[in-house]
Amino acid sequence: MQISNELKIRIVGIGKVGTGIAEAFAQNGFEVYGIDIKKEKIESAMNNITLDLDNLIAKGKSNEEEKDVVLSRIRLGTDLDSVLDSDVVIEAVFEDMGSKKKLFKAIDDLVVSEEALLLTNTSSLSVTEIASATGRPEHVAGMHFFNPVPVMKLVEVVRGVLTSEQTIALVKQLAAIIGKAPIVSADSPGFIVNRLLNALVVEATRIVEEGVGAIEDVDIGARLGCGHPMGPFELIDYLKALPLVLDVTDYMADELGERFRMPVWVRNLAREGKKGSVAGGKFYDQNLPF
Ligand SMILES: NC(=O)c1ccc[n+]([C@@H]2O[C@H](COP(=O)([O-])OP(=O)(O)OC[C@H]3O[C@@H](n4cnc5c(N)ncnc54)[C@H](O)[C@@H]3O)[C@@H](O)[C@H]2O)c1
Repeated sequence: MQISNELKIRIVGIGKVGTGIAEAFAQNGFEVYGIDIKKEKIESAMNNITLDLDNLIAKGKSNEEEKDVVLSRIRLGTDLDSVLDSDVVIEAVFEDMGSKKKLFKAIDDLVVSEEALLLTNTSSLSVTEIASATGRPEHVAGMHFFNPVPVMKLVEVVRGVLTSEQTIALVKQLAAIIGKAPIVSADSPGFIVNRLLNALVVEATRIVEEGVGAIEDVDIGARLGCGHPMGPFELIDYLKALPLVLDVTDYMADELGERFRMPVWVRNLAREGKKGSVAGGKFYDQNLPF
């Protein structure tokens, strides 16, 4: 397979990440087809892409003509059969092993080309296990984008145990052709970036628990002392991601060791349920014991 913008790209799961992936490929000359099980997602995805392109125009980084061309390259629908003639399928459905394996089995049965790349956008799950649902694990790899996809440069290319070197080389080229910087990770929980990030977050919660520093001071320290754009607590609140972070760190603790286990006060915060507009608690605006 030659990497070029002639390849037929299909994206399965048009949520936050899938929408960004569709936009990024279309901006770089690819015709993309996005598939979601929910009809309403099709409409909201197209609205979100249009809004994003309007923002680029408002900032003087694009124009109406370019916007129309990008939009004309994106088609969305609900029929999984449209993966049939894909060269590349990029999966971006919920972070759930059962759903991903079921979907990869269905995709494997449908996609005709034996050369096709079947890629998962999982942030933490085993690519090797996802690939085991197919009869072609050598063509399965992780292609892990970062949010917001059209803006963030990084792509983690994840090598499952049976992923071929050729597949890794092709996915790196695919990332590069849409202006991304690929890094390669072995198939290990959290890969490279989320492992780094979660280690920082867990340590930040321990610093607070031990009374070494307050939440606000840890965030200021990360920003002004380490040059991070946001502190770890600000980041989780901003992403409204506490329940997700807890699930992922529990998984990483099970697989990699107790150093990734969140302390009890964070677990309780995540269990508190909906507070204001945030499900699963927020570090700021709470009466914490610290
Ligand atoms: N949100 C992030 O910052 C981020 C960043 C990188 C990677 N990821 C990973 O990307 C994946 C998607 O995350 P998201 O935040 O976009 O989730 P999301 O909930 O916004 O979107 C998931 C979409 O998949 C659709 N879907 C579910 N099952 C489907 C199926 N069988 N067929 C077709 N569509 C289906 C849902 O209707 C939904 O629109 C996850 O694996 C996540 O870990 C997320």
